[in-house]
Amino acid sequence: MSNETRSALSAAELAAWPHVFREAAGGGATEAPVFVTLHGTGGTEHDIVALADALDPSWAVLSPRGRTSENGMNRWFARRGEGVFDVDDVVVRAGELADFIEWATASYGLEGRPLVLVGFSNGANIALATAFLHPLVAQRAIAFSGMYPFADRRLDARLDSSTILLVGGADDPMAPAPSVATLVSELERAGAAVTAAHRAGGHGIAAADLERAKEWLAAL
Ligand code: MLT
Repeated sequence: MSNETRSALSAAELAAWPHVFREAAGGGATEAPVFVTLHGTGGTEHDIVALADALDPSWAVLSPRGRTSENGMNRWFARRGEGVFDVDDVVVRAGELADFIEWATASYGLEGRPLVLVGFSNGANIALATAFLHPLVAQRAIAFSGMYPFADRRLDARLDSSTILLVGGADDPMAPAPSVATLVSELERAGAAVTAAHRAGGHGIAAADLERAKEWLAAL
C-alpha cells in the first residue's frame, strides 16, 4: 500500500468503511481477478454484487458503499440537481475511493491481482472520476450508463495504461450524449484505450450491455 494520502480518511475510517468482500470460490490462495462494484444512487454494496455475478461469478468482489447520502439514498458524491455535479466533491470522493481500494488491496492480500472497477450510473461516474484521477489504482473500468463526471473542468490526466469500457443507452437522459462524447474525447486525449458501445434506448443495464462487457473482459 502506498503511503500517499489522497483523502482525509484515517486508517481506522478506511477499515470501518461499509463494504462487502467476497473472495473467489475455491478457497486457498487464489490469483483470481477482482471486480470493484460501485452501486448507483439508492443502491447498496450488497445489491450491486449481482452485477459482478452476471459478468463472471468466478471473480472475487470488493463492493464498498457510497459515502454520501441524498434524502437517505446512498451516493458517491454530492450533486445540485439531476446531472449537475458538485465537481469539488467528485474529486474528494474519488480520492477517498482510491484510498479505500488501496486499503482493501493490502488488507485482503489482493496485490498483483487484476482489478476492474464496475459501476452503474452514479457508480459509473465515480469509477470514471477515479480512473481519471488515480489511474494507478483504477486502471481498468466498465462504466454502465456513465457520463463525464467533471462538468466543464478539463484535466491533464495521463492514462496511457488505462482501459475503459463505456456501455449504455444512446438516449439516456441521465447520461446525455454530449457528456458521453466529452467523456470519450477526454479519455482518448489522455491516452486511454476506450471502447464505447452505446445501444438504442435509455438508462439501465441491458442484456446487450452485459454481453459487450463480457466480450471486453474476455479480451483484456
Ligand atoms: C449521477 O448523479 O451520478 C447521475 O445523474 C446518475 C444518477 O442519477 O445517479
